[in-house]
Amino acid sequence: MTDLSTTYLGLNLKNPLVASASPLSKKIERVRKLEEAGISAVVMYSLFEEQIIRESLELDHYLSRGANSFPEASSLLPDGGLYGISPETYLNQVTGLKKALTIPVIGSLNGVSKGGWTRYARKIEEAGADALELNMYYLAVDPDLSSSDIETSQVELVAEIKSAISIPLAVKISPFVTSVPNFAKRLVEAGADGLVLFNRFYQPDFDLEELEVVHTLDLSTSADLRLPLRWISILHGKISADLALTSGIHTSSDVLKAMMAGAQVAMIASELLWDGSVKRVEEILSHAQTWMEEHDYQSIKQMQGSMSQKSVKDPATFERANYMKVLNSFRELP
Ligand SMILES: Cc1cc2nc3c(=O)[nH]c(=O)nc-3n(C[C@H](O)[C@H](O)[C@H](O)COP(=O)(O)O)c2cc1C
Repeated sequence: MTDLSTTYLGLNLKNPLVASASPLSKKIERVRKLEEAGISAVVMYSLFEEQIIRESLELDHYLSRGANSFPEASSLLPDGGLYGISPETYLNQVTGLKKALTIPVIGSLNGVSKGGWTRYARKIEEAGADALELNMYYLAVDPDLSSSDIETSQVELVAEIKSAISIPLAVKISPFVTSVPNFAKRLVEAGADGLVLFNRFYQPDFDLEELEVVHTLDLSTSADLRLPLRWISILHGKISADLALTSGIHTSSDVLKAMMAGAQVAMIASELLWDGSVKRVEEILSHAQTWMEEHDYQSIKQMQGSMSQKSVKDPATFERANYMKVLNSFRELP
């Protein structure tokens, strides 16, 4: 029998297919079904820094009955929905999921600034999470802030959160940094036990008739896999942290590619959000198993990193050469 087991953040997982942070974890019953279908761990939707700050500002405001002290924050944030809930509700959901499931539950904090909100890392641990994922979704829009300033403050945030918890910490990062390997190394030195590649940045569009900015969330396709696949295969063996691939996991082939690149786990969201069906989990896992049997793989561990760039002597030159090969492969124009 092929062994699909893997480890991630010190957790023993029965297979590498993990539910990524998303509304999938909103309903306990749905996650139980995902568990039954074979998902090996679940990352919860995020608790946002803004939610925590809003709640404490609202409390201050209520206590002081003073001036409107948080007009900016309160007018920009969504009122209802998943990210309108109170931090307390989030912590209760962590505890509820832990009680209902046997698979590991990974809490998720989403924020970028240092400060009081990070105490929720500890609260998520106390609520029962097996590990914590920190998502540092941030768009650099200030021309006076250098990449080094931004990265240093993110590295400091990781160190601050790491020092507050005793469960493992994974950090979900952006692909838009000049040197992914250097940033990754600094995060690991600051205490990250795992890196989640990559945050999928939503891209706003314009409505020409209404002259409005349109914020739509397009679900991914397997084509989105290529970006994290490349970087995981570059990072594998070069940094001492577990690697999780998120973005573009839709099929068993996507999972197998993620493993061969060197990921410990493949995280899935869009594929399961299309129609809310958990059947895909069973299908993906059984197809992966069949493929491995047909190709004489005994285990996932044997496969992990087999297509990485670990043994490439000069990866930068290798990438330049590949770039030229790809351009060259385009058909001759008539
Ligand atoms: C509706 C929706 C909600 C999401 N919410 C979160 C979130 O709360 N925190 C987070 O870190 N990522 C969140 N994500 C990102 C996913 O975890 C995942 O990284 C991304 O969708 C790429 O994976 P996929 O290609 O499998 O969808 C969300 C994605 C979707 C589609």
